[in-house]
Amino acid sequence: MAFVAPVLPSLCSARGPLVRRAVRCLAAGLGLALATSGTALAQANFPERAVTMLVPFAAGGPTDVVARMIAVPMGKALGQTVLIENAVGAGGTIAAAKTARAQPNGYTIFLHHMGMSTAPYLYKKLQFDPLKDFEYIGQVVDVPMTLLARKDFPAASFAELQSYLKAQGNKVSLANAGLGAVSHLCGLLFMSQVGVDLTTVPFSGTGPAMNALLGGQVDLLCDQTTQTVPLIKDARVKVFGVTTLHRLSALPNVPTLDEQGLKGFEVKVWHGMYAPKGTPAPVLDKLSAALRVALQDPVVKQRLADLSSDIVPMDKVNAASLRAHLESELAKWGPVIKKAGIYAD
Ligand code: MLT
Repeated sequence: MAFVAPVLPSLCSARGPLVRRAVRCLAAGLGLALATSGTALAQANFPERAVTMLVPFAAGGPTDVVARMIAVPMGKALGQTVLIENAVGAGGTIAAAKTARAQPNGYTIFLHHMGMSTAPYLYKKLQFDPLKDFEYIGQVVDVPMTLLARKDFPAASFAELQSYLKAQGNKVSLANAGLGAVSHLCGLLFMSQVGVDLTTVPFSGTGPAMNALLGGQVDLLCDQTTQTVPLIKDARVKVFGVTTLHRLSALPNVPTLDEQGLKGFEVKVWHGMYAPKGTPAPVLDKLSAALRVALQDPVVKQRLADLSSDIVPMDKVNAASLRAHLESELAKWGPVIKKAGIYAD
């Protein structure tokens, strides 16, 4: 009834005979009370049907891999299926805008990576505000990246790669998942540190970009270990380095880019889970709790460890922690991107 009380006076003050007014007032009050208790019941019973997790990049790519890995145990914890919907395009911003416009009832959630903190500086006409249009469920996982080439790329070492790129320049293609994708940011960082300007080729995700690399249609790709570790182990791609300052347990023989001369080259991709603004707190709490359960699932833990990806500590899998992290990342990326002068219309 706390919600009903402030609204009733306006409904009860309508003009008309006293008895009719009293009846109208009572009916309005009853209606509001029922609606309120209905809402409370819906929140208490949440979820009563499948929950849809929007993924901003193509199926089969790194974000999709993480989403599908956690969807099953999250669904078990919630008692309902968590379905994956890939809403691709514009470096992840289409899915973010779709989430921002969705009904705030908990049935639409959104997994995205650090593109959430770079998009506001990259896109002039963004259809969402990361700090105003979302509720926050929790941080998820931090994923390193690897610099790859097609298997038959004509360079056997990082030194040879650099010489080749300097000689060939824009004859060499570098795939990415669009402006704001981490593959794009990693590629830009690489080109600027090596001092080359390659031809960038955008895809709807690094899933299809990887298919193009495997098929030899593009030359290079910087991509997350959640997709690349098995392909590197099977020697289906050529690897030139990892983007962390220390070697990865899953790829101990692969040197870091830093140790090969690109001093301070570090990209680790943080991920967060969101819901539309206005999703009720009790529903968000259930989603955060289910995410924590999923991230502690032994199968998920082992799979992510095998991919050298770090599940965030459980005290970061909550709304406050994700919001604070997003704010600090927005503050970090703004000046970097403005200085680099990269924009889309
Ligand atoms: C993907 O899931 O396809 C990648 O995370 C895209 C990207 O490089 O950001």
